[in-house]
Amino acid sequence: PTTREKSLHRTVYVGTFIHCETLQKLDICEDGAIGVDEHGKIVFVERNMENVGSAIVAHGWEDARQPDTHIHASQYPNAGIFGQSTLLEWLNTYTFPLESSLADINKARAVYSRCISRTLSNGTTTAAYYATKHVDSTNLLADICLDAGQRAFVGRCCMDNLSPDYYKDDSAETAIADTRSTIDHIKSIDSAYELITPIITPRFAPSCTSPLLHALGQLHKSTNVPMQTHISENLGEVQLVRRLFPESTSYAQVYDTHGLLTPKMILAHAIHISASERDLIRERDAKISHCPASNSALTSGGAKVRWLLDSGITVGLGTDVSGGYSPSMLEAVRQASLVSRHVAMLDGDAAKLSIEEVLYLGTRGGAKVVGLENKIGGFEVGMEWDAQLIGLTLVPEAETEQHGGALSHASFKLSSNEGPVDIFGWESWDERVAKWVYNGDDRNTLSVWVKGRLVHQRS
Ligand code: GUN
Ligand code: FE
Repeated sequence: PTTREKSLHRTVYVGTFIHCETLQKLDICEDGAIGVDEHGKIVFVERNMENVGSAIVAHGWEDARQPDTHIHASQYPNAGIFGQSTLLEWLNTYTFPLESSLADINKARAVYSRCISRTLSNGTTTAAYYATKHVDSTNLLADICLDAGQRAFVGRCCMDNLSPDYYKDDSAETAIADTRSTIDHIKSIDSAYELITPIITPRFAPSCTSPLLHALGQLHKSTNVPMQTHISENLGEVQLVRRLFPESTSYAQVYDTHGLLTPKMILAHAIHISASERDLIRERDAKISHCPASNSALTSGGAKVRWLLDSGITVGLGTDVSGGYSPSMLEAVRQASLVSRHVAMLDGDAAKLSIEEVLYLGTRGGAKVVGLENKIGGFEVGMEWDAQLIGLTLVPEAETEQHGGALSHASFKLSSNEGPVDIFGWESWDERVAKWVYNGDDRNTLSVWVKGRLVHQRS
C-alpha cells in the first residue's frame, strides 16, 4: 500500500522533544511523552514521563520539522550545478532547458519521485514546490506528494514574457487556464487541501506581462489560493524590473499594484529591497522565504534577515533547489547562520543569528510563512504530528505496538557500538543541538512523520 493507505493507530511517542518556543528560546523536554490520535493530531503533551504510567525509558530526540518554504522540484537534477553563473544567465543556461524537458511525463515522474524521497529523508515534512509550466507534470507532482505523504504546496509556474520560445506560456489566458487546471486537479485528489494545496505561481515579475500578473491577482482574490514568487534576488534583475515596469516605483510595488502583495504571498529572497519596500511588505503582511545557500551559490547577495525580522516581517527558510545546491533544510538552517555572519562582517554584530533563531526560522517561521502555524512547527496539543527523530549515535529500538485499540509506543536507546562517552554524550542538550546544526546530515534523520504517518525510516 502507498503511505497514505496505511491505517494509523493512536500512538504515544516518548523521548526527548525539542521545539522552538520563541525566536530566542528552544524548549527542550528531556523525558516527555506526546500522544497522537488516529488522525495524526497531538492530543496530549506530558513533560514528565512518569505521569504516563509507562516503564519505557527513551533516549531519542524528536524535533518539530521542517517546512521548506521555497524549492523547485523540477530543478532537482541540477542541484550542485551552477558554475560561475549569476541569476539571469543561470536561468537561460541551466534552468529553462531542464524545466522544459519535464514536458516528458516519464522524466517528470523520475525527477519528482527522487526529489520527494530525498527531501523526506532529509526531514522536510512540508514543501512549497515550483513545478514547471506543464499541467500534466505539475499535477503528477501533486499526486506523488500525496502518495508519499509529504505535505506540499504545488505550483504550476507562470511565465508569458521574456522567456525562451521553447519554454513560455502562449498568453496570459492560457497561463490562467493552466493554473486553474492544476487547482482543479488538486481539489479532485485532496478536496479539503489536507495535505496538498495548490499555489498560484508567477515565476517572477520579469517573466510575466502586466495582464498576467493582474489576472493572477484576480484569481487569488476569487479563490483565496496562496501565492509564491521571487523578489529582488539579483541586482541585474532589479534593474530589469525597473525597465519593464517604469510606472512602478519599486519591485515590491509591481506586485502590490497587481494585487499580489497579500498575507498569502511567499516572496523568495528579498535581498536588495529598500527600506520603503520592506515597510510595504510588512504592511501587507506578505511573507519572506530566505534562501541562504542559493544566495551564496549564485552570488546574489546576503539577505539582511535581522533587519527584516526587526520590522516585524515573517521569515522562513528555503533550499531554493537548484539555485541552492542542497535539498536539505538542515543545510539551509546552517547556511542561514553563516550568511548572517557574513552580513555581520559588513553591518555589525547585531546581524548574527543564533542557533535558536535559525532553528526557529526553519520550523515555526516556515510554518507561518506557509500559513500553517496552527498545525505544524511545534509540539502542542491540537497541532499535527509532523516530526523527525534525530539520532546522534542513537539507534531506534524495535518498535512495539499493542493492538486492540490500545496505544502503541516507540522508544529509542543508545547504540551498543557508539563511541566512547567522552566523544559523545557529555554535552549539554544545547551543545548537542549546536553540533547537529553544524555537523548533522540525513544520516541523523532516523524517522520522519507527517500528520502522524511514518513517511521515512532510515534503514
Ligand atoms: N527567479 C526566477 N526564476 C527563478 C528560479 O528558478 N530560481 C531562482 N532562485 N530565482 C528565480
Ligand atoms: Fe527560486
